[in-house]
Amino acid sequence: MAMRVILDTDPGIDDALAILLLGASHEISLEAITVTHGNTTVDKCLANALRLVDLAGLTGVPVARGASSPLVKSLTVAEETHGDGGLGYALLPDARGTVSDKSAVDTIIELVHQYPHEITILAIGPCTNIALAIHKDPTIIALIDRVVVMGGVVHAPGNMTPDAEFNIFCDPEAFDIVLRAGFDLTIVPLDVTYQCLFTKAHVARLSSAKPEIAQFIEDSTRFYMEFHDEYQDIDGCAINDPLAAAILIRPDLVTLRDYYMTVELKGEFTKAKTSVDHYKILKKKANTKVAMEVDVDAFMDFFIERMARL
Ligand code: BDR
Ligand code: CA
Repeated sequence: MAMRVILDTDPGIDDALAILLLGASHEISLEAITVTHGNTTVDKCLANALRLVDLAGLTGVPVARGASSPLVKSLTVAEETHGDGGLGYALLPDARGTVSDKSAVDTIIELVHQYPHEITILAIGPCTNIALAIHKDPTIIALIDRVVVMGGVVHAPGNMTPDAEFNIFCDPEAFDIVLRAGFDLTIVPLDVTYQCLFTKAHVARLSSAKPEIAQFIEDSTRFYMEFHDEYQDIDGCAINDPLAAAILIRPDLVTLRDYYMTVELKGEFTKAKTSVDHYKILKKKANTKVAMEVDVDAFMDFFIERMARL
């Protein structure tokens, strides 16, 4: 049976690639896309999500509006990374579908009750919607099968502050709630995603994909590559979110380690930094499985091969 997934996302260039990957994957039954603030405003992310479901052949999957701002801090967006509209230089036709009349929070709660112990939440943006859903209905915690979050760092540098990763920085309090909830929780941090650099050579390998898919990937990632080059001196772009999606289907792509993870909520310089207790100094039970190694070539081959299926 296909894995039932709710995608919580802030599209976003690499979010877009994750949506394409889910659309190309028969192993996944995408039950809903819940949209959050993050790479750009929730309204722009919603407009992008609606267009992307068409591109990914997911028309009909409910797209629900989520939080427009974090729980405590003020809104951060990343338009220098993803462009004013959130999808770099890519232009997509108007969406066929419209936004669901249910909120993201209610969508999560209802689907979890409809499919108890079957839903995986794949969170590739700030965790605000999940935290709000837990707050509204704490009974969902025990009914969710698994939560996978793209976010955080273990040993890698931050991409938002010297120590903090963007998704966690955008709503550290929400991530703290997710960490403490007691989920079967997998974290996909920058330590592995920043090894997955998508380059022009990978773009050139998309010749078996439909022209509109190849064109979208080329136009969106060109902007993302320019950002990585200018701000991070990196050749190519880190396709963080598709790796988190890929491991639902191909867990063998990463090595997971059990860790007790915390997120700093107060630090003057280190706010939103994630830490793991490698030496078990705190004597706490592990609350996460963290992806610490990745087979980069196998992941890139998998992603490119799946794009040809759309
Ligand atoms: C994460 O931040 C966002 O900009 C990307 O979409 C990804 O989810 C990487 O730090
Ligand atoms: Ca994202």
